[in-house]
Amino acid sequence: MSNVTITNHPLIQHKLAIMRNKNTSSAQFRSLVSEIAMLLCYEATRDLALEPVTIETPVATGEFNVISGKKLAFVPILRAGLGMVDGVLQLVPSARIGHIGLYRDPDTLKPVEYYCKLPHDIEEREVIVLDPMLATGGSAIDAIAQIKKRNPKSIKFIGIIAAPEGLNALRQAHPDVDIYCAAMDEKLNDHGYIIPGLGDAGDRIFGTK
Ligand code: PRP
Ligand code: URA
Repeated sequence: MSNVTITNHPLIQHKLAIMRNKNTSSAQFRSLVSEIAMLLCYEATRDLALEPVTIETPVATGEFNVISGKKLAFVPILRAGLGMVDGVLQLVPSARIGHIGLYRDPDTLKPVEYYCKLPHDIEEREVIVLDPMLATGGSAIDAIAQIKKRNPKSIKFIGIIAAPEGLNALRQAHPDVDIYCAAMDEKLNDHGYIIPGLGDAGDRIFGTK
């Protein structure tokens, strides 16, 4: 079964509390999504493989470690996952970026796919899927199924808030995918929104409501 990391780091909890506040502006919300994504990415990349290289410092030569192989591919789920891209790229600037466009049908809550563009050499890369909200889990499950068809080396998922329903569904559907989130909330409401959550992440990032 997949590993689940719900980080309790004080900086993340503080930033997330501000994001949840309905009076937080889109500008501040966007910055916070990006900052939390960066901090979660730090956790999610803890096991990246290293290889030794010889480096000359100004005063001596030594063996040091750098990340081995091709760099990561980040795949945000549109729209809200886009808000996480800047933050993770600050940590891994040379990563490739794929995009998967999905929206939830408001009646069925099932994901509807409208776009998929992944790096051509994804088989040689570790993939980290980005979406701030793991509600029913349908969007993440579908996106990961699309990515698996292209045989990447591995897949991880970084979210910001998970509902227990979505977390369990994602673990059942993709037991090989480790999950990193800032919080696990109480439940979903009848419209599939996370309670207490933060509302509609896409609308809050892009100011569309
Ligand atoms: C939101 C969110 C996730 C999805 C989570 O996207 O960004 O992708 O809902 O819900 P799920 O776990 O039940 O699938 P939304 O469908 O609102 O689309 P948008 O980002 O384009 O607004
Ligand atoms: N998508 C969101 O943006 N928010 C939720 O609470 C659930 C799904």
